[in-house]
Amino acid sequence: MKIIKTKCYDEMSRHAANIIAAQAIIKPTSLFGFATGSTPLGTYKALIEKNKAGDVDFSGCKTVNLDEYVGLSGDNEQSYYYYMHKNLFSQININPANTHLPNGKAKDIDAELKAYDALIASMGGIDLQLLGLGHDGHIGFNEPADHFSKGTNCVELTEMTIEANKRFFASIDDVPRKAITMGMREIMQAKKIVFIVSGKDKAEILYKSVFGKITPEVPASILQLHPDVTLIADEAAMKIITEKGLA
Ligand code: F6R
Repeated sequence: MKIIKTKCYDEMSRHAANIIAAQAIIKPTSLFGFATGSTPLGTYKALIEKNKAGDVDFSGCKTVNLDEYVGLSGDNEQSYYYYMHKNLFSQININPANTHLPNGKAKDIDAELKAYDALIASMGGIDLQLLGLGHDGHIGFNEPADHFSKGTNCVELTEMTIEANKRFFASIDDVPRKAITMGMREIMQAKKIVFIVSGKDKAEILYKSVFGKITPEVPASILQLHPDVTLIADEAAMKIITEKGLA
């Protein structure tokens, strides 16, 4: 794993945006795997600036997102569909028809899970997957478990994740209890992974993910087995790793 330690969140975001832009320049038909949450917001902002400046063209690119809440439609402001269109897709020159998220309102969720994996395969797999890190070590919504998930699956969110995500909702009761998430297979089959982590509250779980035992109890630990991961983390998130002299 290549580790880039940055001074702050903004520097982390610019680094990640540079790598994503480089990928789009080298392969203009790239399939990107995108994430939501607080961490990628700065990366998306930097990508919008590059796109507006004419430095990167997304017109031939395609995207798939990691996850979506079950039960929320795209016009719900808390849905990840809404987030992606608001924070990125509507502000860059990507063709909306080339952007994909799991359908949280699908009538037949099992069919939706299979269809999502088939969709990713039909586009030749993910060229670059952007990942954030949950406080419990989740990536996508692959929560700690006794086994690693394979394909796209429907998960019950843990109390820790519901608690962490309640800040986006009017009340904790409004946080959906289930989500559809890409599984470890598609994440691990991405040709390149950019893993962004910020803040001191992630320091312990980041250390466990990158240097701890590879275990489904810490889902992100599986990234240690991927051949092309670039971790970009700010000093606060890197605190324990730095103190132990590991980077
Ligand atoms: C969201 C996702 C999640 C987040 C994680 C961290 O699409 O995949 O795994 O990356 O929950 O969220 P933030 O960035 O809000 O701390």
